Amino acid sequence: MTSRPEGTQLPVVLLSHRGPVSFGRDEEGRRTASRGAGGLVTALTGLMSDLPDAVWVCAASSEEDAAVAAEHDGDAVEVALEPEPRLLDQDGEDGSGVRLRLVEVDQRAHDDFYTVIANPLLWFLQHGMYGLALAPVLTKREHAAWNDGYVAVNRLFADAVVSEVQARGGRALVMLHDYHFYLVARKVREQCPEAVVSFFLHIPWPGPDAWRVLPPAWREAVLDGLLGNDVVAFHTEGFARNFLLTCQELLGLPVDLEAMTVRVGDRVVAARHYPISIDVAAMRELAASPEVAEHADALRDAFCGEGRQLVLRVDRTDPSKNIVRGFEAFATLLEDHPELVGRVSFLALLQPSRQDVPEYADYLAEIGAIVARVNAAHAAEGDAPIDLRLVEDQALAVAAYTVCDVLMVNALADGMNLVAKEAVVVNTRESVLALSENTGAHQELGPFAVTLHPFDIQQQADALHEALTMGRDLRRARRQAAARVVEENDIAKWLSAQLNDLGVHFAAERVRPPGPA
Ligand code: ADP
Ligand code: F6P
Repeated sequence: MTSRPEGTQLPVVLLSHRGPVSFGRDEEGRRTASRGAGGLVTALTGLMSDLPDAVWVCAASSEEDAAVAAEHDGDAVEVALEPEPRLLDQDGEDGSGVRLRLVEVDQRAHDDFYTVIANPLLWFLQHGMYGLALAPVLTKREHAAWNDGYVAVNRLFADAVVSEVQARGGRALVMLHDYHFYLVARKVREQCPEAVVSFFLHIPWPGPDAWRVLPPAWREAVLDGLLGNDVVAFHTEGFARNFLLTCQELLGLPVDLEAMTVRVGDRVVAARHYPISIDVAAMRELAASPEVAEHADALRDAFCGEGRQLVLRVDRTDPSKNIVRGFEAFATLLEDHPELVGRVSFLALLQPSRQDVPEYADYLAEIGAIVARVNAAHAAEGDAPIDLRLVEDQALAVAAYTVCDVLMVNALADGMNLVAKEAVVVNTRESVLALSENTGAHQELGPFAVTLHPFDIQQQADALHEALTMGRDLRRARRQAAARVVEENDIAKWLSAQLNDLGVHFAAERVRPPGPA
């Protein structure tokens, strides 16, 4: 799919916490493979097979992942990612596989790393979710989790990345992903000076003051780790600027907001922005599949009869997605417009996310409670207006995109939001995108959406009404325009823009031609 520019014909070592596939066992004890959750996996899955000599380093997230890794002595395994993930024979059945290095992490260290520091602390801080009066609290427990969890796990993954780079002769393009791994680049740079090291953040980067919630030693470690990269990249220019301002204010480093760079000793680190996207062709291919068609028929029967309309949301049950306020807004809509009761349904396809983090388990309970309240208050002839399904089912989600009339994305804050991009390219009913102004996607799709203000329930209810009553011509024009934006800025463009920039950087700054000095 993607042609790689000169200068980046390097092997690629990619790191993310969540991998593209996770293994398990079914009731008969047979090994199963399922797709990893979230936008990062969606975006990167289609790309990996296009990168020659690439390895994806990720956490072994289940016992079966650890068993697979152990069967291969901790070396990379070969997997096919599409159409469905599966383990291939040792060297790939047809050479089309992706190499996956599953890193096993001690359970306790992983809990500290994932359920105490990365989620909630970093996630909440970066999505602006702390009120600060009562949370967060950093006690001995959090200090231990920082040292024995976040720092230790970063060290473990840095070692895995270093060994993959060294196995490739020390020269590789290292692509580090997301807030789990702020400390990795510094260590990779120290041990692999010939590597080009880049980092991509999939979530927001807030302004300098937000980072003061972290103790100075922690926030300085985060910044110092990131400054080990050649390029630190974000979804939006605003996040990139916030990063530079954070370096300036918290580390006193000189930044250039024109060139979008920060100077660290004799090095210059670039802050860039590349809005992530989806594989449009693959999404449309999936939408045309018999499995999706079957789901779409069932959804049409259930929700799209004469005079009826369907509001949809597809999300992880993440507090940042603002699901509870979304249902409150829907209830307000039904109260303000009782003529819609019995005519408009709300289908919510929600993947229970991070249930080992107490804040997330509580939030899922809140979701259940608000749905019960709204359904009890607004049932029409026994029909509940909200159909809440706690599922992770890509085919069902895509089928729902095709038949909905309104897609609701009201996130408090979201680095990008791929759900919005997915829906506009496959919908067949000229649906309206109701999109939070606090998503990265709003910068591209806002002009064609009904904008939602995530904290204003009345505004969201009014916006839903506007979406449900919008004329067909306007809906069609807007949906088509939004789809064109996504088609023109798809995932291939996201990757090639980075590879081009890294290639230029590599050619200019990092590689000296072999020969006498
Ligand atoms: P995040 O990265 O925070 O999870 P995004 O909207 O960017 O949010 O990406 C979410 C990805 O996960 C999308 O590809 C979406 O289709 C998928 N997804 C989310 N919820 C579900 C679900 N309930 N079932 C299937 N896929 C889902
Ligand atoms: O895109 C943001 C992100 O945090 C990814 O890093 C992550 O893989 C995904 O959401 C899902 O979260 P988790 O891996 O914690 O289930």
